[in-house]
Amino acid sequence: MKLGEKIGSCEFQPEVYAYPTARCYKRLEGFSIAQTEFTNEVNVYVHIPFCRQLCTFCGYLKTLNSEELRRNYVSSLVREIEMYADILGDKKVISLDIGGGTPSLLQPNELGEIMDALKKANRNMLGTAKEASIEATPESVEYDKFKEFKALGINRVSIGIESFADGEIRMSGRHNLGNASSNAIKTLKEIRFGNIVCDLMIGIEGQTTKTFSDSVDALLGLDPDTVEVYALGVIPSTVIGKRRPEGLMGNRQKYECYEIARKKFLENGYFQSCHNRYSKLEDGGYVQEDAVFKGISLIGLGAGARSYAQNVHYRNAYDGLDGRAAISRYMGKINSNGLAVETGIFLSEDERMRRYVIGNIESLDMRAFSRAFGIEFGNAFPELYKEMLSSGCAYETYNELKLTQKGLLFRDLIARQFFSSNVEALESVYRATA
Ligand SMILES: C[S@@+](CC[C@H](N)C(=O)[O-])C[C@H]1O[C@@H](n2cnc3c(N)ncnc32)[C@H](O)[C@@H]1O
Ligand code: SF4
Repeated sequence: MKLGEKIGSCEFQPEVYAYPTARCYKRLEGFSIAQTEFTNEVNVYVHIPFCRQLCTFCGYLKTLNSEELRRNYVSSLVREIEMYADILGDKKVISLDIGGGTPSLLQPNELGEIMDALKKANRNMLGTAKEASIEATPESVEYDKFKEFKALGINRVSIGIESFADGEIRMSGRHNLGNASSNAIKTLKEIRFGNIVCDLMIGIEGQTTKTFSDSVDALLGLDPDTVEVYALGVIPSTVIGKRRPEGLMGNRQKYECYEIARKKFLENGYFQSCHNRYSKLEDGGYVQEDAVFKGISLIGLGAGARSYAQNVHYRNAYDGLDGRAAISRYMGKINSNGLAVETGIFLSEDERMRRYVIGNIESLDMRAFSRAFGIEFGNAFPELYKEMLSSGCAYETYNELKLTQKGLLFRDLIARQFFSSNVEALESVYRATA
């Protein structure tokens, strides 16, 4: 179907945050780090797969928090960081993201061990990284602990608020009732983190456009630095994916919510730094995501973590249904001195070109594109180029193809149009077996 028809029928596409998607990775046999070609600047991601709750919508790799497992996991992580020391030592690290799961469940000494291992692998990591970020659930934000996190070098905290409607929070299996969310933001402000980022969700169970709008107002009242708005993607392996509750918000309402959020944040001193992020900070609020979209490599550490080298994308042991099994496989492999990489994909020139377009979809420098791939953008993707312009989703200025407001609204539908038939086919095999 053409882009205009997809927009006309109000099709919805969950966020395209990586290309090729992990859904099309295949088992990699005999893989070694020596095969990777990372850029000279890199981003580092560390996955902490422990949570106090298993939210009904969440497909991230995680398991219920256990102190003993967590401690053993941190030891494996330190070993994995040591295995990457040769590569990390040669690179300029521009961002560090400790994500999950819920990494704020780490004790300060555990985060300290991870930071020490990283600094040993790359001495100047915290000097060069513009951002050192940690993800948190609101109710895990405690003053003393986060003061110690800050002392360890963390300057950005990303908290999953999702909604201020207590009924919606309970239905999602979460613990952060409205009070916990407001208190978390206030506590982080008191500690003076450089960037307090709040996630809001569109379309969680029980939500209406009105309750979403109320959540935006409540969040505005707390004045975070950055806000990320995620529209619910229904993942087959999750509780919501299996139960498919009636009354989930329809696509039209999801788009309405997007417009509500944009209007309110723009009216209240935020600028739109990408399709789903609003920030008061000059750098746009999320250095790692922007850099990865621009093609700067990512080194992912921990169970389920993905790494993006120029020539290959790969993932450590992962299981969307049974996080604990993947964590055991990860620890088993690392503790016997091997890498825990299980799946991935080597990128052909065609996939690299598509990745470049998708990563730069909001503002594509067409001259840089032809320098990189030896072909004009309009010749590589003639139909899509015309459709983006004729549907009012994009305009051209000084050799840049930029998304309009309409284009930003449908950013993920547009990005999806650039998927290769190979990736589409691999994804449909995945969907049929998920
Ligand atoms: C790792 S979580 C954030 C930190 C912490 N674990 C928490 O839940 O508060 C990352 C974010 O991804 C978003 N998210 C999770 N599952 C999603 C889904 N199925 N569709 C869209 N966004 C989702 C949520 O906004 C969530 O805050
Ligand atoms: S949304 Fe956050 S807290 Fe909930 S299960 Fe996923 S990672 Fe854990």
